[in-house]
Order: sequence, then C-alpha cells, then structure tokens
Amino acid sequence: MEIFIDSASIDNIEKWLDMGVVDGVTTNPSIMFNDGVYDAEAGARAIATLIHPRPLSVEVTTNDLNGMVTEAEKFASWAPNIVIKIPQITQDGIPCYGVINHLETEGIKVNATAALSLGQVILAAKAKATYISIFTGRLSDEGGNAAEVIGNSASWLERWEYKSKLIIGSIRSVGDILTAAIAGAHIITIPPAFLTKMADHKYTRDTVRQFVADAKKATEQMKTAMRV
Ligand code: E4P
Repeated sequence: MEIFIDSASIDNIEKWLDMGVVDGVTTNPSIMFNDGVYDAEAGARAIATLIHPRPLSVEVTTNDLNGMVTEAEKFASWAPNIVIKIPQITQDGIPCYGVINHLETEGIKVNATAALSLGQVILAAKAKATYISIFTGRLSDEGGNAAEVIGNSASWLERWEYKSKLIIGSIRSVGDILTAAIAGAHIITIPPAFLTKMADHKYTRDTVRQFVADAKKATEQMKTAMRV
C-alpha cells in the first residue's frame, strides 16, 4: 500500500518526503487555495520537481468536457510526473469517462476523482483511468459505508484484472486511514495533520521518556562508580 500526501504545502510535502513515507501527492483547487498556492502552474511545477519521479495529481478547473481535455494537456506539459484529476461527472451530472479514456489513450495519466460509489469505480476502470479516487469522508457524511465500497471496489478490480489503482481520499480521521488500509486501499492520500496524529501515541511518548530518563540515570551511576 502506498501513502500520498493530500497537500499543496511545499514545507509539509518536503517534511514527510524526507521521512521516507510519501509515495506521491494529490491536490485539488480547494487544497491549493487553502495552502496559499494561487498560481497553480508555479505551485504544481515546484511540487512536481520536489517529488519527482513520484506522481502529483492536479485537477482540471472546468465543467466543459472539451475544456477539460485542453486544460489536461496543458497541465500535463508542466512536468512528466503530473497526473490529471478528472471528475467522474460534471457538476450537472454529465459523465466524464470519454475525457478520461481520451487522455489515457493519448498517454496522459488520469486520476478519476470524486468517486462515491462502486458503480463509478467500475466505469472509471473501464475508461482505463490509472488511478480512481474514492472520497470516503464525503461518502460517510452521506451515511455510506466506506469500508464496504473500498473493499468491493478493490475486489472487483482484482477479480477482473483492471490496472487502475484506488486512491482513498477525503480523510477525516486516523480511523478513516486504518479503515481504508484494512479494507484494501491501494493508496491512501492523507492530509499532513493526520500523518502527525497517525505517528503520535501518548504511551510511546511515555515509553521513550522513561528510556531516556533511565539511560541518563545509568550514565550518572557509571560516572559515580568510576570515581570510587
Ligand atoms: C483527494 O484526492 C482529495 O484532494 C481530497 O481528499 C478531498 O477531500 P475533502 O472531502 O476533504 O475535500
């Protein structure tokens, strides 16, 4: 299983990259805006260079299908490791699988994003999306069973030997991360705040505190013993 970081913050990406736990990065227009990246091209180029050859997902910003293709081709030209996020459907419910299939056929990798159901995962896989993003937080917000959708999607892809990889996003807690991991996620994209929480445990802190204190006491004892 791979871990992506769901962020446009260079500082956070660099920090977790240096720890060796990040296999890729996902963004969307809201993440870029919230992380202070107002120039999408400059921001995407900087992240793509930093994480190369790992993939960076950048999302199209239009509802028009032809416009999506034009934007995707432009965004993909910024760096070789840029993957284009195309939604399953437009805001008016028009399916975007033709765009996904067209881009993949052109050699541009697609992350078919904002999937909320197994049905959408099946269609995105048929359209040959490299990645399919299931938004589990939003799915749970609506009363859906995230573990069931992830598990069924992973099993279906495996049974029929589709190459698409599931990215589980819209993470709202460390519990969501663990649920996704157990349910069969290929990749989980995690906001930096939850990576910090995932690493932390109060008893680990207590344990380390005890070991450091005992090591210090032992050193003092040794010094005393050497003096007599
Ligand atoms: C994933 O690729 C998305 O960027 C992200 O996880 C969406 O999450 P949200 O529901 O918090 O907007």
